[in-house]
Amino acid sequence: MAAILEVKNLTTYYKTRMNERICSVDNVSFSLEDGKSLGIAGESGCGKSTLAMSVMGYYFPPLYYDSGTIIIDGKDITSLKPDVIRQTVLGTDIAYIPQAAMNALNPTRKIMRFIEDVLRAHGSALTKKEMRDLAEDRFGILNLPPKVLDQYAVELSGGMKQRTVIAISTILNPKVLIADEPSSALDVSSQKIVIKLLHDLMEKGFVRAMLFITHELPLLFNVTDDIMVMYAGEIVERGAAREMVFDPLMPYSKGLMNSIIVPEEGTRGHVLQAIPGAPPNLKIRPEGCRFSERCQYLKICEGTLNDKKAGPGRIYRCRLGEAKLRELYRKQEAEAKKFPLISHTYVDEAIASVETKGEERP
Ligand SMILES: Nc1ncnc2c1ncn2[C@@H]1O[C@H](COP(=O)(O)OP(=O)(O)O)[C@@H](O)[C@H]1O
Ligand SMILES: [Mg+2]
Repeated sequence: MAAILEVKNLTTYYKTRMNERICSVDNVSFSLEDGKSLGIAGESGCGKSTLAMSVMGYYFPPLYYDSGTIIIDGKDITSLKPDVIRQTVLGTDIAYIPQAAMNALNPTRKIMRFIEDVLRAHGSALTKKEMRDLAEDRFGILNLPPKVLDQYAVELSGGMKQRTVIAISTILNPKVLIADEPSSALDVSSQKIVIKLLHDLMEKGFVRAMLFITHELPLLFNVTDDIMVMYAGEIVERGAAREMVFDPLMPYSKGLMNSIIVPEEGTRGHVLQAIPGAPPNLKIRPEGCRFSERCQYLKICEGTLNDKKAGPGRIYRCRLGEAKLRELYRKQEAEAKKFPLISHTYVDEAIASVETKGEERP
């Protein structure tokens, strides 16, 4: 199948006032197939949002392009000028819903005005009435009543605001949609609504492929086809969503899975364990394995650091081989079950309390 987004060896950096480089996206390569969704997971500060901004090819200070290529649906956008990117790529080839976008809607303008602005900025020849019809249609698909178009952002609930932002960002039918933590500010049931609607947009063909960013790896289970884990500016593991959630290989992915409770079937009863420490400073651009200082297997670490294959579409970056990692995890889980720090009952109770939260009231 053809890739709709192809990123090769992309490196981008922030330049600080002290003229230092913070290399937040470091030699990143991945591709996203037409019709597929790809999740990007990793703790805060790992470079997920910077990667999202970088793949749009639209750079402005303090973010700068260093090297690599970005191809969207066969078109190389890497060397296009910012003006050209703004006019011919953003919104149509690729659209980005920034983190916290729902709180960034200008409070003094009615929602319909945002839609008109986006359409006009792209030279739309539609009349006001046609724009209105288009907006009503799209809002309907996102379960938003037409009256929202005549309202101000402050009049909308969190979930409705989020859906409004999605409607505005996708009005030009972008080939690739990047949703950056679209649900982290919402309660669990609103999160599920947002995720379902993003899928509906893809199924109806308004969006052809999607990147979905979250700091919670397990949330991506049954949300995206594939998952990539990002750590300190690099991709450290990628595979099919199910395998990534239930059978992570790279110790950092394993740590992410173990550190979060998500109310999904199959994640119940896992042992909760935080990853000690924090991601490294990217000014230094660490040599070798960037996770090593936090890795509990550092003492037994051996072999060559490279991207290792583990079945079709599965790749992880670690010195240890697949068999060795699996053996370590089996032992550790057996031990943890003997002396649980947090009992499984506790985890199940926490999940149950989240699940019983009410549905969102519009
Ligand atoms: N405007 C900025 N100037 C300098 N450094 C930045 C800026 N924005 C982000 N960074 C740095 O880039 C790294 C990645 O940040 P970000 O992409 O926001 O991570 P994530 O989205 O995974 O939380 C962080 O270490 C952060 O300190
Ligand atoms: Mg972010």
